[in-house]
Amino acid sequence: MLGEVFIGMKIEDVKTITVVGAGTMGHGIAELAAMAGYKVYLADIAQEILDKALEKIKWSLQKLYQKGMLRDSVDTVMSRITPVVNLGPDKNYTEAFAQALSETDVMIEAIIERIDIKKMLFAYADKHTPSHAILATNTSSLPITEIASATGRPEKVVGMHFFNPPPLMPLVEVIKGEKTSDETVDLIVALAKKMGKQAVIVKKDVPGFIVNRILARFLNEACWTVVRGGATVEEVDATVRYTMGFPMGAFELADYSGIDVFYYVFTAVSERGFKVNPCPLFKEKFDAKEYGMKSGKGFYTYPAPGKYARPDIPKDKAGKVNPAKLIAPAVNEAAWLLENDVATKEDIDKAVKLGLGWPKGVFEFADEYGIDTIVAALEELYKETGFDEYKPQPLLLKMKEEGLLGRKTGKGFYEYGTAEEKQMETLIIRIEEPIAWIILNRPKKLNALSPKLLKELAIALDELEEDDRVRAVILTGKGRAFSAGADVTAFMGVTPFKAAIFSKRFQELTLKMQLYSKPIIVAINGYALGGGLEIAMSGDIRIAAEGAMLGQPEINLGFIPGAGGTQRLPRLIPRGRALELIFTGDMIPVSEAVKLGLVDRVVPPERLEQEARSLAIKIAEKPPLALMAAKYSVNFGLESNIWAGLALESTYFGLLFSTDDVVEGVTAFLEKRKPKFKGQ
Ligand code: COA
Repeated sequence: MLGEVFIGMKIEDVKTITVVGAGTMGHGIAELAAMAGYKVYLADIAQEILDKALEKIKWSLQKLYQKGMLRDSVDTVMSRITPVVNLGPDKNYTEAFAQALSETDVMIEAIIERIDIKKMLFAYADKHTPSHAILATNTSSLPITEIASATGRPEKVVGMHFFNPPPLMPLVEVIKGEKTSDETVDLIVALAKKMGKQAVIVKKDVPGFIVNRILARFLNEACWTVVRGGATVEEVDATVRYTMGFPMGAFELADYSGIDVFYYVFTAVSERGFKVNPCPLFKEKFDAKEYGMKSGKGFYTYPAPGKYARPDIPKDKAGKVNPAKLIAPAVNEAAWLLENDVATKEDIDKAVKLGLGWPKGVFEFADEYGIDTIVAALEELYKETGFDEYKPQPLLLKMKEEGLLGRKTGKGFYEYGTAEEKQMETLIIRIEEPIAWIILNRPKKLNALSPKLLKELAIALDELEEDDRVRAVILTGKGRAFSAGADVTAFMGVTPFKAAIFSKRFQELTLKMQLYSKPIIVAINGYALGGGLEIAMSGDIRIAAEGAMLGQPEINLGFIPGAGGTQRLPRLIPRGRALELIFTGDMIPVSEAVKLGLVDRVVPPERLEQEARSLAIKIAEKPPLALMAAKYSVNFGLESNIWAGLALESTYFGLLFSTDDVVEGVTAFLEKRKPKFKGQ
C-alpha cells in the first residue's frame, strides 16, 4: 500500500453488507443491517441454519414492529436479506458466496471463534470482495491483527464487536488492528450509527477489548469475595443490584448469560495474555455443567433448564459488601486501559454503561467512592493475596498523590464544579457540587450542642438553602459522636423562662430542617443523644454507622427532651418504646434502632461517608422542585389528616406540570437518556 493514495469509501457508498455466520450474533447483525436499509447477504454453512436464522429474524422484527420500533414493514426488511450457503459438499466455498462477496462493501464476520477458520475466510474474502471493501470481524476474543494478516488489505480489516442480542444492545466496540486505518475505523463507527448503535473506539487490539476486560475483573472479584468467605452469593448480588444499581447481580448475570460462555471468553483472553487469577468457583460450576439458566442451575436454581425466573435476592442483604472494594479491580483495569491509550475515559465509561447497563461509568463510580478509597481497597487486596492485578495502577497512585480524589475534591477522572470547605467556629461546611456537608465540629466535647453551634447550624442551613449549586445536604459529626446532646454546661443557673426560650429556639431549628426545601440526609457517625437525636430525627433519611448509640438521656439530668423528642420519637417508633426510652434514658445500639425504624440503614463506620455521599448524589440528580414537593407532601400530610394531605399532594402534582423539569423528564425517558434537571 506504500505510496498509494487511499481514497476511502464513504458511508453513503455502502450499499451491500455480507454477514458471515448466522448464529446468535450473525443473525442479529444481519437483522440490524437490513433494518438500516442495506442489501444483506447472510451466509452460513448449511441451509437449515439459514432457515432457522431467517425465522428468528422474522420473529424479532415482528416484536419490534409491535413495539413501534420498526420504520418499514417486516416483509420489506426481510426482502433485503438473501441467504447464502457458503460451504459446498466438497468443503470449499461456494460460487454463490463468491458472487455475494463480489458485491460486498462491508463484510461482517460472526463465525466460530477459531483463528484458523477465520483466517481462511478472510483470505478468501480478500480475493473475492472489491478492493474498497472493508472486512470486519465480530470476534470477542481473537486478535484482529492476526486475522488481518491473512489478507492483503490489513488497513481495511477491523473489529466490530456487537453485544448479545445485537438488536437490543446499544453498543458496538470498534477495534483497531495494528494496521487498521483511521478511515476504516471512521467508516465502521458511521456504519454502527446507521445501524442504530453507539460506537466506542478501541485503539489497541488488546484481548477482551474494553467491556470484557472490565467485566472479567468485576465478576472475578465478586466471585473471590464469596470464595474468601467475605459474603454469600446473595449478599454480593444484593449489593450489586440494590446499592450499586446494576441491572443484575454479578452471579445473576453469569447465570443469565451462561457460565460456560464467560468461562470460554475468559479462558481465551487469558491465553492471549490477560493476566488474571481466575476465581475457582466459575471453573467448578463449569466442570459440574451448572451453566446457569440454560441448564436449570448455576449460582441460582431455575424452574427448568432454559426457563428463566429472576432470582429472588432480598434487598436487606445489601449492606454487607463494600461496593468500592468490589469495583476496585475493575477501576484498576480501566485505569490500565486509559494509561495504555487503549481508549479514552469517555469511551470506557460509555462502554460499561451501554455494554453492561451500569448506571454510571467505571470512572464515575471511582470518583464517587474516592480514588483514595479505591487505592486503599486495592492495596488491601494485594496485601491479602499478592495477586498482581490488585497492584494499583500508577495513574491511580498519581491521582491520589495529587489530591485528585474525585467528587470530594471536585476533580478526579472528571471535573465536578466547586469543591470548597468553609470553617465556622463550631461547624465545617463542605460543598461538593451538587451536594453539601455540614459537619458538627466540636469533637472533643462530642459535638455537644452549644448555643453558638445551634446558631451556626441555622446560618449554615440558610446559606446552603440559597445556594443553587447544592441540591441535597448531609449532616454529620466529626470524631466519635454525631452529637451527645445539648451542651449541659450551658444549663447551670438557667431560669425556667430562659430554658423555655432555649427549648423554643431549638425546636425552631428542628422545624427548619423539617421544612427545609432540600433533602437532608443525617449520617449518624457515633453517639446521637438528647438534642443530637432530636436533630437527627428532623432530617429526612438517617444512615448510621455500626457502633453508634442513640437515646434521650435527659431524664437522668432531671428534665425531658426539649427539641421535639417527645413528639418525633413516638412518630418514628412505637409509643411504648418511645416512652420507655424517655423514661429510662437508656441508650440503644443501631442494630435495635434500625429494627425500630429510628434509623433507615446501618453501615460499617468506614463506609458511612461513601454511602451518604452516594445516596445524596443520587437524590441530587432528581428534579429539585419535585423533591421539595415530595418532602412537603409527606411531612405536612403526616401532621394533618389524609384529606388535607391528599389535597396538598394533588396540588403539588399539578404545580409540577408547570415546570421545565417535567418536560425534561418525560423527553429524556422517551429519548432513552438520562435527564438533566435544572430546578425550573
Ligand atoms: N454537654 C457538654 N459536654 C459534653 C456532653 C454534653 N451533652 N456530652 C459529652 N460532653 C463532654 C464531656 O464532658 C467530656 O468533656 P471533658 O473531656 O472536658 O471532660 C467530653 O465531652 C467527652 O465525654 P466523656 O463523657 O468523657 O466520654 P465517654 O465516652 O466517657 O462518654 C457519653 C460518652 C456520651 C456516654 C457521655 O459523654 C454522656 O453521657 N454525655 C451526656 C449525654 C447527655 O446527657 N446528653 C443530653 C444532654 S441534654
